[in-house]
Amino acid sequence: MSTAARTPHILTRSGDPDFVDLDWSIPISDWESDRLVDMPSGIHRHPVVFVAYREGVYAIKELPVDLAAHEYEMLRSMEDETRHMARAAGLVTRPWLSDDVEASGAVITRYVRHAFPYRELVTGTGFGERRDALLDAFAGLLVELHLGGFYWGDCSLSNILYRWDASSINAIMIDAETSRIYDQLSRGQRAEDLAIMEMNVAGEMADVALEHGASLDDADLDLGSDISARYASLWSELTKSLIVTAGDHFRIRQRIDRLHGLGFAVEDIDLIPVDDGTNVKIKVTVGGRQYHSEQLRQITGIDVSENQARTILSDLTYHEAKFGVTSETGKAVGAMRWRSTVFEPLVLRISELLPAIDAYQAYCDYLEFRLVMATERERDVSNEEAFSVWEANGFPGLKGASDDHADEDGDAVEGDAALAADGT
Ligand SMILES: Nc1ncnc2c1ncn2[C@@H]1O[C@H](COP(=O)(O)OP(=O)(O)O)[C@@H](O)[C@H]1O
Ligand SMILES: [Mg+2]
Repeated sequence: MSTAARTPHILTRSGDPDFVDLDWSIPISDWESDRLVDMPSGIHRHPVVFVAYREGVYAIKELPVDLAAHEYEMLRSMEDETRHMARAAGLVTRPWLSDDVEASGAVITRYVRHAFPYRELVTGTGFGERRDALLDAFAGLLVELHLGGFYWGDCSLSNILYRWDASSINAIMIDAETSRIYDQLSRGQRAEDLAIMEMNVAGEMADVALEHGASLDDADLDLGSDISARYASLWSELTKSLIVTAGDHFRIRQRIDRLHGLGFAVEDIDLIPVDDGTNVKIKVTVGGRQYHSEQLRQITGIDVSENQARTILSDLTYHEAKFGVTSETGKAVGAMRWRSTVFEPLVLRISELLPAIDAYQAYCDYLEFRLVMATERERDVSNEEAFSVWEANGFPGLKGASDDHADEDGDAVEGDAALAADGT
């Protein structure tokens, strides 16, 4: 076959590479390109490779063209609903191959940086504390996706990547091959998705136990049903309607604050008069789990994950309080000054000292350290003082100190100090 007949159809997005320099005439697992990078990856059915460009690292998954097109479409459609999903960067079709051939299509996603696979999470000592964080992360992700009308169809531990998010864990979905999007999910569809998740998770936990030479009796087979239980309480918290006496405005405020506290943005608030107008029913439409990250981005332009944003916002509030800023203009100027004189220099220092670490996460870990130090000394400690002690003691409390090969490859990936969106 001539080369011309082997020209791929490549759909990419502005801001991402065009991927034309890759040799699409052969299967991705035969590539010997300089762009290939070795990244840790989980269990998968389809061939997956990682390639590095100036714009960042990308994951390329090869699969039959219809499935590839469907997955690309699903990821694209959910982009405005959630920040907890891999970002689609391209769709490749090899028109010279028949549609049912494995290599006839490929989906390209932005590599989710600083993430670790579930095996790292559920094995080793101390899963107790992490287990609780995992339940929250998993349930939070499923609720957010279901609220957006997204039926996953194959939710499992290995179809999610995990990242530290301040003191909690952030779950990011990566595999949308089996998913479907509806205006709204029925109770039955949600239940079905949870049942699939429970079955997948039980299987994965059984595998982990067997791999570690433990018996099935010792496997954490309840993990999935515990996720479902947490899902159910979060779902009802977010979707229940509340009836209050007309005029009890503070209850409306309380309800909204509670939802914000859970990290969910509130899109619409519907106040419906009931009982002849004596009472009102409050119905709230909940958006994505990005209340604090959105707020931080609006105030300072800093783009981080939800709980990192929550932690960084309290640092900003602490500085505002310290410098007695009260007016709105004063706050806006103060936030910019805090960003350029406090936040950015520290993040830069962290990324110089710890190049392989997510610098925003490390900043949150440092804030935790400073708080403990101040509590112990019963006084405020300056950043100068706290940071030098943190450094001198080998960065106690630093999370996610595992390898991130993306960064070791140096030039191919933007440095952590680049205060840009990290693309998840
Ligand atoms: N965007 C991404 N960022 C980081 N790792 C990824 C990304 N996409 C895929 N991977 C890695 O590749 C593996 C397989 O991806 P997945 O979409 O689940 O493929 P499959 O459909 O074959 O199961 C994942 O477990 C993960 O380790
Ligand atoms: Mg998968």
